[in-house]
Amino acid sequence: QMAFFIDSLMSRMTLDEKIGQLNLLTSDMDVTGPSMRKNYAEDIRKGRVGAIFNAYTPEYVKQLQDMAVKQTRLHIPLLFGYDVIHGHKTIFPVPLGMAASWDTAAVEKAARIAAEEASADGINWVYSPMVDIARDPRWGRVMEGAGEDPRLGSLMARAYVKGYQGNDLSASHTVLACVKHFALYGAAEGGRDYNTVDMSRRRMFETYLPPYKAALDAGAGSVMTSFNEVNGIPATGNRWLLKDLLRRQWGFSGLVVTDYTAIPEMISHGVGRNTSEVGTQALQAGVDMDMQGEVYVTQLKSLLQEGKISRQDIDTAVRHVLEAKYRLGLFSDPYRYVHENPDKVIMSPDKLAFAREMARKSMVLLKNAGQLLPLKKSGSIALIGPLADDRRDLIGAWSAAGDWHRAVSLLSGVKAAVEGRAKVYYAKGANLVDDTALLRKLNAAGADITVDAKSPEQLIREAVATAERADVVVMALGESAAMTGEAASRSDIGLTPNQQELLSAVYATGKPVVLVLMNGRPLTLPWEDAHIPAILESWFGGTEAGAAIADVLFGAYNPSGKLTISFPVSVGQIPVYYSHKSTGRPADPGNKYTSKYLDIPNEPLYPFGYGLSYTHFSYGDIVLSTRKLRRGEILRMAVTVTNDGHYDGTETAQLYLRDRVASVTRPVKELKDYRQVFLKQGESKRLTFTLTPEDLKFYNRDMQWVTEPGDFEIFIGGNSRDLQRAAFTLTE
Ligand code: IFM
Repeated sequence: QMAFFIDSLMSRMTLDEKIGQLNLLTSDMDVTGPSMRKNYAEDIRKGRVGAIFNAYTPEYVKQLQDMAVKQTRLHIPLLFGYDVIHGHKTIFPVPLGMAASWDTAAVEKAARIAAEEASADGINWVYSPMVDIARDPRWGRVMEGAGEDPRLGSLMARAYVKGYQGNDLSASHTVLACVKHFALYGAAEGGRDYNTVDMSRRRMFETYLPPYKAALDAGAGSVMTSFNEVNGIPATGNRWLLKDLLRRQWGFSGLVVTDYTAIPEMISHGVGRNTSEVGTQALQAGVDMDMQGEVYVTQLKSLLQEGKISRQDIDTAVRHVLEAKYRLGLFSDPYRYVHENPDKVIMSPDKLAFAREMARKSMVLLKNAGQLLPLKKSGSIALIGPLADDRRDLIGAWSAAGDWHRAVSLLSGVKAAVEGRAKVYYAKGANLVDDTALLRKLNAAGADITVDAKSPEQLIREAVATAERADVVVMALGESAAMTGEAASRSDIGLTPNQQELLSAVYATGKPVVLVLMNGRPLTLPWEDAHIPAILESWFGGTEAGAAIADVLFGAYNPSGKLTISFPVSVGQIPVYYSHKSTGRPADPGNKYTSKYLDIPNEPLYPFGYGLSYTHFSYGDIVLSTRKLRRGEILRMAVTVTNDGHYDGTETAQLYLRDRVASVTRPVKELKDYRQVFLKQGESKRLTFTLTPEDLKFYNRDMQWVTEPGDFEIFIGGNSRDLQRAAFTLTE
């Protein structure tokens, strides 16, 4: 039916109308909401636009859709795209935080809520999930993904797609997902955004490509190309990537869109002299839609006339765009996503309650010496730091339509939680950023970070005096949201110097200090870890962050998050990730000529999978169904986990595998599976896992996906470092 409809529509389309469908333009947004730019309104009326992004609200979308369906010759509706990355209006923690919940059902629900709100607001296409594996925390966009691991990244990718698209893409509360950035964008050299990527085919297939594939297997209907090059050819003009791999090998039949102006940027990459050369490359590589580059709309007609591209190239791209519109139900009702009463859907109490739950699940307790946490609701608490009474940063970067005025600050969350039973004092203590050059850059990009009228010395004096009055101090430090996300790479990923000064001054008072971190990337925290007794990573927690942090601080919620990206000791370790290879000279402290640093350890400060609880979990021995597994058989294993601490709590038991000897080098361990279990104080549960033949496979010397007989090790535990071990042999 769809093919018949589109064939017949395309048979009536002129070349100009077809090319118009391949053009994606941004609306211009300002602080008060979307406003119309005359020239693109004209483009819509003339049929020169296939989709618009950065336009929302039912009224505005209706206005634009009216132009497309009432004023163009063939009445073809527009797609409306938007960066709905971690919620639309109800903002959830940044995706790196949500991944730390390891709770795919919760992430799917967050994506479903985002889809409900976005679609009620006129949007039918979201530029999410971002599934780029990232192992370099200098890269500001680590906060948009699920971290360093392909298995967990794949599970998260799938959860987002299912949440956005549901079972029926044409239903008015589901939206088209867009997997990005295809491909390998997270491996930018030096962590500098948009920088060159260069990696072996093996690493691509083993580590970086699986999450994209998982998202597509879950049904994602569109893919966004990345800014970087892949094997010397920009992704946006890379025929191997977009045709051989994506279409032929993976069977993807949906829509491929570029990232923002990625086609003209191929001129700067140096693979074409002008827009007609790079436009030809993009179309022939398999790019359907040109985001904001206006190359297709200006060049394709003459390129066709000159015989540089074929009618078939254009038709294929047009078909993909029209199919996406058809699948969204836009041909039967172009106003399907124009909700009459979005306020009933947006930021409803149930959604806010879930945002609070999601934020609690995302937090990772990094340290809790002497069980300083949870705090008692009595005595006096000093809340200190530039993020203690902040709302703007709490919702994080890429919270595009999010309204920070609706966010709950930590100060108000704590005040509400103590219900008047404890005194709460507050001092700002420091500016988030004092460095004028950095401030200028951040503010030029719209961060709006203000510098206090008081001098830094005065701010610290007030903070110290506030700390001295209190029984316990909670410090809220970290990054500004604008220090993370796109084009926000940092070479120093510690707390800013003025925040460090504040922290050490307050620490010197001798008061017990709880450090609450708000940030979008791993930070280097060696001093903090050595001195501060309790450290809670709360990420940028979203609309309900302050309430959720208070829940954790006072024990209404026992923290259960686990890191999905390693926190380095220092920038010098980067890239540092748990699934590294052994090398021929694994680190040996007694032998100089082994793979290690002279001045820092090889291991990160906090490893992948790490996160504490207010209670304690211990693991029994691993019991295997067999120690000799025949090829094709399933291995079963069990481990008993006991909550032997003093609180009820949730543990994430992680299963890792190591292939001891293979025809190619294999990682020292790889996450294969995990179980989340809630255990009451004193309770034990036997957790069972299985490993299928598929779990034992890898790419051999000929890049074939195979199992090889030999010795394997299994590890199960609460993080990638502290693990129980067992071994088995795979026989023929
Ligand atoms: O979706 C984003 C992408 O992640 C980065 N460049 C801009 C796009 C559209 O806003």
